[in-house]
Amino acid sequence: MKIRLVGGVMLTAISVVLFGSCVSDKDSSGLEYMPDMYRSPAIEPYVDYGEIRGRENMDLKMQQSALTPPYGAIPYYGTNAEDVSMMMPWSILPNAEYASTHGLKGFDFAKVGEDPYENEAKAWDWNPLKLEIEAKLDGGKTVYKNITLDNAKKLFVANCVHCHGEKGDGNGPMMLSGAYTGVPNYADKNDLSDGQLFYSIYYGKGMMGSHAPQLNKKEIWSLVHYIRKFQDGDYDKAAKESVVLKEGENMVTKMVAVKSAPVVPVDTIEDNK
Ligand code: HEC
Repeated sequence: MKIRLVGGVMLTAISVVLFGSCVSDKDSSGLEYMPDMYRSPAIEPYVDYGEIRGRENMDLKMQQSALTPPYGAIPYYGTNAEDVSMMMPWSILPNAEYASTHGLKGFDFAKVGEDPYENEAKAWDWNPLKLEIEAKLDGGKTVYKNITLDNAKKLFVANCVHCHGEKGDGNGPMMLSGAYTGVPNYADKNDLSDGQLFYSIYYGKGMMGSHAPQLNKKEIWSLVHYIRKFQDGDYDKAAKESVVLKEGENMVTKMVAVKSAPVVPVDTIEDNK
């Protein structure tokens, strides 16, 4: 009798808990017994403190909670000279207006009234990042892999696809949902130089924000390659075919420039003084 009673009470308790957590909205987590476990108080650097459990604090909401690096700090790592030089500040400075329109912080700006996108970035027609190509023997045939583009694809999926779309045609989910407009098709941007593509991704353009806080310059140059591949399926064909396996070799990886640097390097540290 006692056992039955205990059993009955437990069954009722379990049912209450089980059914209590059922809600018709499939996006809801149901009844929350310990809300802090579901929604920890925001203490991570990039979480904005302006909105905690429904309470809004407009002053904090518009502020970046992460500390900005000291002015002039250069985010570089590694020991490969080519990589490191790519991480140095770009010689082409952002338009002075971008300080307010695109919220750029910690940058030097071009003089008021100058348009570095039109005047300098336009003339920059080469990509300093070499393509990493792997050639491998597979059943008597050479199979190529563009490692740089494979990595760029991951960056594109994480940072760009929601606006620009999987095919780069400007039909990402943000556009399809109607939440956003004005995203171009990369195919219509054929005549932009590499420098212009880089400038827009790095500093932002129009309704597109700056990606400088999320991506380093090497990553952005890899995205410039990735956009070129959307525009021209054969973009990396010559680079791939230039990697030749020697007699007896099964696999080789090489760094190939799509177009070599101009004789006078544009992106030098001295330029920035
Ligand atoms: C929030 C939506 C959004 C995201 C995310 C976004 N873009 Fe854009 N992008 C735009 C819009 C809008 C434009 C058109 C800007 C204009 O011309 O005013 C644009 C334009 C461009 C252009 C053309 C620039 C030019 O000079 O005409 C390139 C290249 C580009 N985006 C690349 C990227 C890459 C690479 C990423 C990811 C790192 C990215 N975008 C992420 C919305 C977005």
